[in-house]
Amino acid sequence: MEVILAKSAGFCFGVKRAVDQVYEQIEAAAKETDAKPIYTYGPIIHNEFVVQDLESRGVRVLESEAELDALMEGTVIIRSHGVPKRIQEKIERKGLSCIDATCPFVKRIHRIVEKESAAGKRIVIIGNAGHPEVEGIMGWSLTPADVIESTEEAVRFSPKEGEKLCVVSQTTFNYNKFQELVEIFQKRGYDISVANTICNATEERQTEAKDIAAKVDAMIVIGGKHSSNTRKLYEICSRECAHTCLIQTLDDLHLELPEAVRLVGITAGASTPNKLIEEVQNYVRINF
Ligand code: F3S
Repeated sequence: MEVILAKSAGFCFGVKRAVDQVYEQIEAAAKETDAKPIYTYGPIIHNEFVVQDLESRGVRVLESEAELDALMEGTVIIRSHGVPKRIQEKIERKGLSCIDATCPFVKRIHRIVEKESAAGKRIVIIGNAGHPEVEGIMGWSLTPADVIESTEEAVRFSPKEGEKLCVVSQTTFNYNKFQELVEIFQKRGYDISVANTICNATEERQTEAKDIAAKVDAMIVIGGKHSSNTRKLYEICSRECAHTCLIQTLDDLHLELPEAVRLVGITAGASTPNKLIEEVQNYVRINF
């Protein structure tokens, strides 16, 4: 069977970089005689297999700030979403070693927010309130930041007389929605500076999946059952290719394909490890 594997399948640049940094820390610790424990502040990625693998190598997940408070020693790795500035400072103040694996695209937002809020601007984050990335961004503003997610919230928002606004976005926010919300502010004549900080990794993965699905006889999407970006990939591919299936691991792969099938496409959600993608790819090449 011929296979087309999407180049953008699986981890984006920022997640790959963060996961790699955890494995580097494990390797470095293995060479030391009195290695200190390694922690990640929250799960490094939303993939239970990766988190389990790391756990089996001694990496523990800090689930809350209280758990961080209780630490006396070790290395704490900040994941790609980033954290509020005070958390990073707390890690350092406690004398723990801090590995900052915040995605550079998210770090750029932190810098904008810190600088613009210091210059007296009110920060508006277009994104999902409560998302760890947004919480992190808020934590770099020197003044209270607002989070706006919907048209209703944008309409309801009203700055003070003469107030200057700096608008940024969560990296994974939908571009069209972002534009729509910014336009509401512009039409109302607010004094705003806008930084489009959306990362196109998700969009690129979706566009490539759509192109491949349109060409192949069957399409395999690999990713977590509960991962929304994986489901979205599945929907996009299903529209282009009738034989599209969604699998979590190789065990779920029971493709019953018509004889005429010669070309299979493969893509994967943002939290799918490379090893799994390769396993599926090799299996399909050899067994179909
Ligand atoms: Fe990934 Fe960084 Fe973009 S974590 S989705 S490359 S902002």
